[in-house]
Amino acid sequence: MTLIAQITDMHIRPSGTKAYGVVDTEAMLRQAVASILAQPRQPDVVVASGDLTDCGLSEEYELLRDILRPLPMPVYVIPGNHDRRDNLRAVFAVDGYLPRAGVFLHYTIEDLPLRLIALDTVVPGKGHGEMDAARLAWLEARLAEQPDRPTFIFMHHPPFPTGLQHMDSINCRNGAAMAKLVRRYSNVERIACGHHHRSIQIRWAGTVGSVAPSVAHQVLLDLQPHEAPLFTLEPPGYHLHLWQPEAGLITHTAFIGEFAGPYPFRLDPDSPAFGDKAVAQPAQSAIARERRA
Ligand SMILES: [Fe+2]
Ligand SMILES: [Fe+2]
Repeated sequence: MTLIAQITDMHIRPSGTKAYGVVDTEAMLRQAVASILAQPRQPDVVVASGDLTDCGLSEEYELLRDILRPLPMPVYVIPGNHDRRDNLRAVFAVDGYLPRAGVFLHYTIEDLPLRLIALDTVVPGKGHGEMDAARLAWLEARLAEQPDRPTFIFMHHPPFPTGLQHMDSINCRNGAAMAKLVRRYSNVERIACGHHHRSIQIRWAGTVGSVAPSVAHQVLLDLQPHEAPLFTLEPPGYHLHLWQPEAGLITHTAFIGEFAGPYPFRLDPDSPAFGDKAVAQPAQSAIARERRA
């Protein structure tokens, strides 16, 4: 089994500066890191799917690196439309997985049971992303290398529609061409994205497309056409992708925050299952006691 935590759209600003004057993205990412560290089963890796910072400043990448430091597992990052490749590379190149040369911050991670392919969809200065001919050729070459190995692609801009119309107008261009390529590879288990700041799933190109919620602010859930996206401070979260070879790739949404519980399931006498000797009440209580300890 392999567990991948996907955090996204952290939009880090310099310490003491709130994003859009509202969102304390530093504090929220620190809470996300604490939440990951508190997971009973620790992820094997963390992937961060873009909009790592809000303005792409070196100071923001330095702060981001500092916030992520408590995570003991490998953390892999890709850029989003709010990032600047040169500043990102300058701070994160030391980890060794980012390409040393070339324009795009594409790479693969080969040492997990599930192969990771990281795509850079950024078009500098623009909100939308793109899988242009050069990027499609790179992806095609990578997919052709290991056509039978389960593969997890992550990229910032979704190449598929989501119904959030303003966000879809700045999604990944040339999605149809990417779909044509991906459809040829049944080993692609998932295309995991960020950018839309909500948890979204779609069947696409013979695989599953997903978007993780932001660890900071969320885009308003409004499926009507509207002028510009608005954001809210709904509970933030991240995705936990569990790879079980016999079952496939299973995704859970983890919400970040302080919530009441956990509680044992004490059956009400009115329940149709009441009296069923198979219900393991003592075990549930033991779990609750253990968690409180
Ligand atoms: Fe974002
Ligand atoms: Fe974005």
